[in-house]
Amino acid sequence: MNNVISNICCIGAGYVGGPTMAVIADRCPHIEVNVVDINKDRINLWNSSKLENLPIYEPGLDKIIKRRRNKNLFFSTDIEKQIAKADMIFISVNTPTKTKGIGAGKASNLKWIEASARQVSLFAKGHTIVVEKSTLPVRTAEVIKEILKSKEHSLKNKEESTTFEILSNPEFLSEGSAINDLENPDRVLIGGESHQAMDALSKVYKNWVPEEKILKTNIWSSELAKLTANAFLAQRVSSINSIGALCEATGADVREVAKAIGFDSRIGSKFLDAGPGFGGSCFKKDILNLVYLSEYFGLPEVASFWNSVVTLNTWHQHRISKLITKKLFGTLSGKKIVILGFAFKSNTNDTRESAAIQICKNLIEEGAYLLIHDPQVGYKQIEQDLNLRPFNKNKNKNYSEKNNEGYWEPIDTVETNFNSADAVLILTEWEEYKKINWKNVSKVMRKPSWLFDARSIIDPNKVRNTGLNFWRIGDGI
Ligand code: UDX
Ligand code: ADP
Repeated sequence: MNNVISNICCIGAGYVGGPTMAVIADRCPHIEVNVVDINKDRINLWNSSKLENLPIYEPGLDKIIKRRRNKNLFFSTDIEKQIAKADMIFISVNTPTKTKGIGAGKASNLKWIEASARQVSLFAKGHTIVVEKSTLPVRTAEVIKEILKSKEHSLKNKEESTTFEILSNPEFLSEGSAINDLENPDRVLIGGESHQAMDALSKVYKNWVPEEKILKTNIWSSELAKLTANAFLAQRVSSINSIGALCEATGADVREVAKAIGFDSRIGSKFLDAGPGFGGSCFKKDILNLVYLSEYFGLPEVASFWNSVVTLNTWHQHRISKLITKKLFGTLSGKKIVILGFAFKSNTNDTRESAAIQICKNLIEEGAYLLIHDPQVGYKQIEQDLNLRPFNKNKNKNYSEKNNEGYWEPIDTVETNFNSADAVLILTEWEEYKKINWKNVSKVMRKPSWLFDARSIIDPNKVRNTGLNFWRIGDGI
């Protein structure tokens, strides 16, 4: 069996598939990489001549696309043809949490994985290595394997021979720094049964990743390691956010506490930033998967331990909106609040599970009028996340008529939108918000005016003597 890969197909052109394949194509010019998706609009955006129209915003991605697109990196909806040509297929489709049926609210919905496996089984030719890249519950490879094996059986005794090997190669990229994470990974994890298949994938990575960073495990360990890594990271965020609440109550400062514990080399200094609560497509989903698995295997204490990380995160988001309401005299009715940032973190246009969604919903529920800004998130996405259409100035000029009803409006620029606002709330740590001149902002706001910094990006000295009341996360001083 030949384990030299010359043609890769990736099913799913999303936040994982797109950047991962771009970096593989960039680092392996001898490999043809085809990214396919059922979503034609998304593929058109990947092929757009204007690089600012790429469907995902990720620093450094546009340069790679410019270098490799239509050379050895191709985006298409031609699923059948590209699967047939490939000797290695990555499955990188979405796996959101199930909303109904068995495991609703916890287990992942594997319908897109199953559909992809069926496509592979229908169209693949010759020996094909199938790599699961999406974040998946443990033992998903089994599902893929069963579907593919049925094809192998159906072809027995025929001349044509199609054989499959399945690998787990979880993605550890973090949005916003995905390109660097892919180019300089802490490790690459390959889980599998066949050494030949694992070596073939390892060879692809060895084009730019040092061999000692490529770890090989059995397939289930690889799947569980991915869930565990995300659960540990999310647990750190919930831990520091819980301590932040205690700091506010006791007069301590969470930044000082984080620094002090971070100096302990066993704890380490990374991932200790208190914020509005973790978001992103992975953390909550992966922990809920762990919870589901633990319950399924009769380990309720383990399930409840991990579940508390998510419970704390949700409580924390509500805590922030309640605190704002309290500071603004217990009512937000008719009050204008400028929201800075809607993405779940900076340097991405992704809003999945963003803390901003729950916090903004709560503020609107309390009657606030929100002006929402994000440099990368379009208003259509915000509308979808809030499940509420924005206020239309042209249709309804008289804001006061709607005084008791909360609503929102998107804004393109920050500088000109602070007029008569009662408060500003920072929810995403975008660089441009660090440069705002708070003295000027304070002058045009309605008094008493508040700046709420849920990301701890503002130097308190820059707000002192500006006339603004200032609150920041985890600051009890
Ligand atoms: C995460 C994992 O880091 C990555 O390895 C995995 O492959 C996918 O899930 P991502 O969700 O892109 O990546 O972002 P990450 O940087 O981990 O941040 C997740 C959330 O935690 C964000 O909302 C972020 O703002 C928050 N966070 C992170 C904090 O509030 N404080 C921190 O110190 C770090
Ligand atoms: P992730 O963050 O995991 O990359 P995304 O939702 O950004 O998730 O991307 C997943 C992509 O997978 C979407 O563009 C979706 O259209 C695509 N997809 C889902 N099912 C299939 C399928 N059966 N065949 C091809 N593409 C698919």
